[in-house]
Amino acid sequence: MSGRIEWVSEGMRLLGEVREDLSATRPFDGMTIGTGIHLEPKTAALLLALVAGGARVVATGNLSSTQPATVDYLRARGVEVFATETRDAAEHDESLRTVLAERPDLLLDNGGDLFLRWLDDPYDGLRGGTEETTSGRNELLPHRSALRMPILVINDSPIKQFAENTHAVGQSVFESYLRLTNRSTQGKRVVVFGYGSCGRGVAAVFRNAFALVTVLEADPVKRLEASLDGFDVADRETALSRADVVITVTGARNVLRAADLPLLRDDVILANAGHFPREIDVAEMRVHPDVVAIRPSTPGLETLECVDGRRIHIAAEGHMVNLAGPSPLGNSFESMDLGFALQALCLAAVARGEATAEDCVVPVPRRIDEAVAAAYLRLVARVV
Ligand SMILES: NC(=O)c1ccc[n+]([C@@H]2O[C@H](COP(=O)([O-])OP(=O)(O)OC[C@H]3O[C@@H](n4cnc5c(N)ncnc54)[C@H](O)[C@@H]3O)[C@@H](O)[C@H]2O)c1
Repeated sequence: MSGRIEWVSEGMRLLGEVREDLSATRPFDGMTIGTGIHLEPKTAALLLALVAGGARVVATGNLSSTQPATVDYLRARGVEVFATETRDAAEHDESLRTVLAERPDLLLDNGGDLFLRWLDDPYDGLRGGTEETTSGRNELLPHRSALRMPILVINDSPIKQFAENTHAVGQSVFESYLRLTNRSTQGKRVVVFGYGSCGRGVAAVFRNAFALVTVLEADPVKRLEASLDGFDVADRETALSRADVVITVTGARNVLRAADLPLLRDDVILANAGHFPREIDVAEMRVHPDVVAIRPSTPGLETLECVDGRRIHIAAEGHMVNLAGPSPLGNSFESMDLGFALQALCLAAVARGEATAEDCVVPVPRRIDEAVAAAYLRLVARVV
């Protein structure tokens, strides 16, 4: 595994350059950074860049995605990790609170987990930090006035939107579907819930793999966009009743409900790519009166057997399919190289006092986006 971590770290050349700069300028000297982001090989590279910049890093992961080999790797390099592989929300909550008990000066959050718990039990000295994803931005926005500190939202950089959410999530969800199911996509009917920055990538990658893709999107403007992009936008009932694969990627709750179960046809695969495991109501589906048996199938899939013989397969128990299934790879390292360079530079800007309390849950400053884009074109794409 450490081979994979080294492979990924070496590949993240932009972050490597940022790390060298941080180790020369030491913006985090004397500071503790608390992190709550997937503990997998790419984040190892990010956390070690923060250490190189002078930080003491106390880390936990996100629910269901912690990789033990990454935890061992980080611990061996001085990062204090409080995390288990758990899918249990209460156990994960304890790890988050343990990180906060170290009273970090800065937080690197993913999903709003740390900042929201800080609001429950605030301590003095928190200067601000960053939030990585769409769902976290949505969780934090209503609390801006209580938070009153710089929190830069990496997700709201255009670079994160197109490089990770659209291109990389599309590819990694597709890769996860192939890895978990070993099934084809050609001629299969795939339903994608959500046509935001992630959904449009997922829909495009499956279409490019010759699937017949239907987009179900709540916002009529985005539904129109999906239609003009050439996707079927059939009504929900028709789409679900014909689907071979259903993928949710909306950030919303109970997008696919137990009440939908009778609509689904035999052998359908259900997968979620949204941040929280709440888009498919797996708990209610398991106890639906139509379900007579539940059995594990191939690793990463659970099969609900219905009274009429239909089999409904749920991937990764409804957790984020590209990070929670067996042997997860997550998004490409190039996309995370961009996103994590933004992360490290935004945290350094907050540490240096270059962002104010007015910059609470706001996008990445334009100058950082421009610097990262120019560096990537020079260093990685080698086009300028
Ligand atoms: N798996 C990953 O690697 C990964 C990476 C980045 C983001 N995410 C997560 O993916 C989710 C989506 O992110 P995004 O950036 O695409 O968000 P977004 O806000 O750009 O798009 C979400 C879309 O879903 C639509 N929607 C909401 N509820 C719906 C419903 N019930 N039915 C149909 N459509 C609905 C919204 O109208 C919106 O267009 C978030 O939870 C985000 O945190 C996952």
